[in-house]
Amino acid sequence: MNLLVLGANSDVAYAVAAAFARHEKASILLASRNMELLEKKVQDLTIRYGVEVSCCYFDVTDFESHSAFYESLQKKPDVVVYSAGYMPEQQEDAQKNYKEAQKIFAINFSGAAAMLEVVAADFEKQGHGTIIGISSVAGERGRQSNYIYGSSKAAFNSYLSGMRNRLCKRGVHVMTVLPGFIHTKMTESLELPELLTAQPEEVAEDIYRAFRKKKNIIYTKWFWRWIMAVIKGIPEAVFKRMGL
Ligand SMILES: NC(=O)c1ccc[n+]([C@@H]2O[C@H](COP(=O)([O-])OP(=O)(O)OC[C@H]3O[C@@H](n4cnc5c(N)ncnc54)[C@H](OP(=O)(O)O)[C@@H]3O)[C@@H](O)[C@H]2O)c1
Repeated sequence: MNLLVLGANSDVAYAVAAAFARHEKASILLASRNMELLEKKVQDLTIRYGVEVSCCYFDVTDFESHSAFYESLQKKPDVVVYSAGYMPEQQEDAQKNYKEAQKIFAINFSGAAAMLEVVAADFEKQGHGTIIGISSVAGERGRQSNYIYGSSKAAFNSYLSGMRNRLCKRGVHVMTVLPGFIHTKMTESLELPELLTAQPEEVAEDIYRAFRKKKNIIYTKWFWRWIMAVIKGIPEAVFKRMGL
């Protein structure tokens, strides 16, 4: 199995790559911007799991490069994981600086969508393949503290749903991952409730298990399905007055 990980310097992405190396002995290509960090991850995965791992430069906001990037891959992937993400502080950064909001949308949604269209066209032609999009429960209902990031994830959720609808008739599977809180560099400056916060390795195992079972949408950890059911069930007239 050939695995391509986009945004591979994400802590979750690394754990997912490790899970595929451990369980599938997959050949792995890590693609992201920070090459120094990527090379360390290549060494680490190679030593730990004895699998074939390499890395290459990939910037999802460089839309023009997407087709050439994919064409340049020596081995075409069977599974693509999209894990790049960007979540700056909202009130001081994203609300006041539209460039930050644009960057949130480019990394979490529009760049992802443009790149995954290139992958989808190839998978559709081959008649097989799996696309795993790492989104967020934040996309399920906008909250005052995080609605710019949340709306980019809502767009990504909708995109993945439509792509799944299109590609399931072509032998291609699309899985949406909706994580809650995870201890990663994205959240290191936040005070997260310990009981609700997962380690990247736990999320990665959930993703791998769901991949094996060909799940369409997963919440990780599992209890976020129920937390979000409650949050989505709150009437708008009440929700708008809450300080979430
Ligand atoms: N952590 C959480 O609590 C949480 C919760 C729900 C959902 N998520 C989602 O889960 C995914 C993984 O999150 P994480 O916490 O593992 O993130 P992370 O450790 O902060 O890593 C995010 C990675 O995205 C990559 N990236 C950013 N801009 C990019 C670009 N223009 N092109 C290519 N790669 C780019 C960066 O790679 P470089 O270093 O190479 O630039 C960075 O390492 C994200 O989509 C995130 O939104 C996270």
